[in-house]
Amino acid sequence: MANPRLRALTWWRKWAKRDWAIVAVGFTIILFALTLHFDSRNPATSSTFDLHSTDDLVPLTLLHRAKATGAFCLDGSLPGYHFHKGFGSGSNNWLLHIEGGGWCNSIKTCNNRKGTALGSSNYMERLVPFSGILSRHPSQNPDFYNWNMVKIRYCDGASLAGHPESEFKNGTELFFRGQLIWEAIMNELLSLGLSNAKQALLSGCSAGGLATLIHCDDFRNHLPKDATVKCLADAGFFLDEPDVLGNYTMRAFYHDVVELQGVAKSLHKNCVKRMEPFKCIFPQEIIKNVRTHLFIVNPAYDFWQIQNILVPVDSDPYGYWSSCRLNIQKCNSTQIETLQGFRGSLVNALSKFQKNKEGGMYINSCFIHCQTWMDDTWHSTNSPRVNNKTIAESVGDWYFNRKVSKQIDCPYPCNPTCCNMDFTRSL
Ligand SMILES: *[C@@H]1O[C@H](CO)[C@@H](O)[C@H](O)[C@H]1NC(C)=O
Ligand SMILES: *[C@@H]1O[C@H](CO)[C@@H](O)[C@H](O)[C@H]1NC(C)=O
Ligand SMILES: *[C@@H]1O[C@H](CO)[C@@H](O)[C@H](O)[C@H]1NC(C)=O
Ligand SMILES: *[C@@H]1O[C@H](CO)[C@@H](O)[C@H](O)[C@H]1NC(C)=O
Repeated sequence: MANPRLRALTWWRKWAKRDWAIVAVGFTIILFALTLHFDSRNPATSSTFDLHSTDDLVPLTLLHRAKATGAFCLDGSLPGYHFHKGFGSGSNNWLLHIEGGGWCNSIKTCNNRKGTALGSSNYMERLVPFSGILSRHPSQNPDFYNWNMVKIRYCDGASLAGHPESEFKNGTELFFRGQLIWEAIMNELLSLGLSNAKQALLSGCSAGGLATLIHCDDFRNHLPKDATVKCLADAGFFLDEPDVLGNYTMRAFYHDVVELQGVAKSLHKNCVKRMEPFKCIFPQEIIKNVRTHLFIVNPAYDFWQIQNILVPVDSDPYGYWSSCRLNIQKCNSTQIETLQGFRGSLVNALSKFQKNKEGGMYINSCFIHCQTWMDDTWHSTNSPRVNNKTIAESVGDWYFNRKVSKQIDCPYPCNPTCCNMDFTRSL
């Protein structure tokens, strides 16, 4: 595992599994996860991506205190996290990052997940690299490199928001304990020094970005009143949009996740009172109620959203979108128009938030998904830039109140610094 390319591949295999958890069967995403390259039109990023051999591997800690409250992964195993202690001026500062990995919306998909690291610590890697926002190298992570760093593993399938009351009492062996896991992790980290934090940032990518939004205010409430506490959701702004056939695929999917795992109890009361709970899990509703300062990082052409919300496989029976959904460069002008409409919906869903003085955002026009925890997209010479700022610089400007930090990129294909994924290479 010392080879960074190998690690990158492992990472993408994991992505493949995540997609597989939501995408309809019959589509072998795992195949093209094996040989992924960035868009070759951009020579700076064509070299496949390199997680840097200087990466620090950080061991998994199983959360033994979870036994007491029954805060188990889907399969009943103990949840876990990776911790790297801060140093120097970062000793009292804490950065938490919640891992992503889709959701499970049925007994079947949750049962499948039990046999993976996303549902059981029995399958979790014992060592993971800390890179990007978790990197301890000032050149790659100028503002946070010496903070206490925690990567929270995701093993409940409902963005750390499931409730045991929803478990089946008939021999279906699935634990819906996401909310309990969140609480147990918080208690553990508070005892490790988080309770004395001076500065803290809760972050997460994808389903972990959604978990960040759900738990942001609770995180804030656990920390000292005079501490600076903020939240950063990366690629977690899932849109409540219809697919290309006009079906609300994502709505139906979230409806099932929320019903199955009893997620409503973790959502904001004001929202659940007014509308059906599955609507309250969409970030555009969540952010209306978050009081803690928030930063949203999301590509306007988030490939996960394009492949699962806008053009899920079932919405394209004739394969008109089969290349475009895998490589934005293969889209024709009609399809680009549809994608611009999707970008418009994202910008529109954020329009009120954009006026919020304390908020920050970075909406770049790249065909990518998570961008904060990889060196190549977070802060390096090849990283995407908007107004010449990397994501790391923009997040730092916002966190430390250096300047207003709300970047919205011009529409595709205007930004030559993007790392655009190409999933067609190995097809
Ligand atoms: C338990 O109940 C659920 C929901 O009614 C059902 O789908 C599932 O098949 C049941 N499991 C068993 C083992 O009977
Ligand atoms: C999606 O929409 C089409 C056309 O409106 C409809 O025929 C089809 O049944 C819908 N599919 C699903 C899964 O709802
Ligand atoms: C783009 O492709 C779609 C599906 O194949 C087709 O219906 C549409 O006419 C094409 N648009 C252009 C401008 O070629
Ligand atoms: C962009 O930022 C870099 C430093 O991050 C700086 O060296 C460069 O001059 C800037 N370019 C422009 C066009 O402002």
